[in-house]
Amino acid sequence: MRAVLPTRDDVERSNIPSLGQLADPQPAAGEVLVRVRATALNRADLLQIRGLYPPPPGESKVPGLECSGEIEVVGEDVDSWQPGDRVMALLAGGGQAEKVVVPTGQLMPIPEGLDFREAAALPEVALTAWTNLVAEGRLQTRQSVLITAAASGVGSFAVQLARELGARVLVAGRSMERLERLRPLGAEACLPLNNNLPRAVRAILDGPGVDLVIELAGGPGLSERLAALRSRGRLVLVGILGGAGAELDLGDILRRRLRITGSVLRARSRQEKARLVSDFWSFAEERLVDQRLRPVVHKVYPFDEIADAYAQLERGGVFGKLVIEI
Ligand SMILES: NC(=O)c1ccc[n+]([C@@H]2O[C@H](COP(=O)([O-])OP(=O)(O)OC[C@H]3O[C@@H](n4cnc5c(N)ncnc54)[C@H](OP(=O)(O)O)[C@@H]3O)[C@@H](O)[C@H]2O)c1
Repeated sequence: MRAVLPTRDDVERSNIPSLGQLADPQPAAGEVLVRVRATALNRADLLQIRGLYPPPPGESKVPGLECSGEIEVVGEDVDSWQPGDRVMALLAGGGQAEKVVVPTGQLMPIPEGLDFREAAALPEVALTAWTNLVAEGRLQTRQSVLITAAASGVGSFAVQLARELGARVLVAGRSMERLERLRPLGAEACLPLNNNLPRAVRAILDGPGVDLVIELAGGPGLSERLAALRSRGRLVLVGILGGAGAELDLGDILRRRLRITGSVLRARSRQEKARLVSDFWSFAEERLVDQRLRPVVHKVYPFDEIADAYAQLERGGVFGKLVIEI
C-alpha cells in the first residue's frame, strides 16, 4: 500500500512527509482493516514526522490520527461490522495510508449527509472536543466556556459541541477575521487573545467569570485565561501552540480554588477511547444526521500533494481542517 513513511531514527529528520510503499497491515482480533478514502491533518503530524511525537507503543508508526473509508476485512471476534460498511475512525496512527487497521471501539458509521472528505475531518477534533468539554471539563447546560485558538480544527468543532451542550460560548484567538466565522457555529463573543481578556469576559457574561476554559493556545497568556475564570472555575489544557512556559499567580489559584487539568487523547488506552467514542456517538449521532454538528473543512488535497498540506498547516491561516483524499 502507499503510505506516508514512518520517521526513521537513522536518517535526517525532515519537515516534509515522504510517500512510499509499505506492506498492508493485518487486522487482529477485535480490529478491522479499513480501505482509507480520506484522512485529515493534525498538529501532532508535524511533530511526528520530525521524530518529536512518537506513537504510543504497539500502534502504527505511519502518521494520521483519523480517517474515513470502507471496511475491507474484519478480524476475529468482530460481529458488529461488515466488509463494505462506510466508517470514520479515531486512530492512534496509520491514517495517512491506503489501508489502516482500527480497533472496533474507535469506529463510527458515517452519518448520511457526510461524504468521505467531511467524515475524515471529524473523529480527532470531535473526540478531543468531547473529551475536554465533557469528560474533563464537566461543562453543564447554562454554564459558560471560553475556547482559545478557537479557529483551529479542534476549536471549530468544540464551539458547536459546547453550543449543543447548552453552554454560552466565548472564543478567543489571534485573527478576529477567522474568529468571526465561528459566530454562525455558536460563538456569542469573539475576543482578542491578549487584550485584557478577563475584563472583556466578565463584561460579556455580566458576572464573576467563565466556568470553563478550553485552552488550545497555552504559553505566557495562560495567566490571563486563569484570571478570566470565576472562583472554582476549571481550565483544561489541551494545546501549547503559544509555548510550554507560563508564569502563574499561585496565590490566585489557591484562593479561588481553580482547577487546571492537562489532557491528551492519543495516549489513552483503547478501552478508554472506546468509552469516549461511544459516549460521544450517543450524544452526537442525531445531531450529525440533522447537521447541527458539522466538521469544518478548509481545503482538500490529493494524496500526492500531502507535502503541500503539511506546509499549509505549518504556515497557518487555516480555518478548520485540511483533508487528504486517498
Ligand atoms: N491534547 C490533545 O489530546 C489534543 C488533541 C488534538 C489537538 N490538540 C492541540 O489542540 C490545538 C489545536 O489543534 P488543531 O489541530 O485543531 O490546530 P489547527 O487546526 O492547526 O489550528 C491551530 C490554531 O492555533 C492558532 N495558533 C497557532 N499558533 C498560535 C499561538 N502562538 N498563539 C495562539 N494561537 C495560535 C492558530 O491561530 P491563527 O488563526 O491566529 O493562526 C489556529 O487557529 C493544538 O495545540 C493541538 O496540538 C491537542
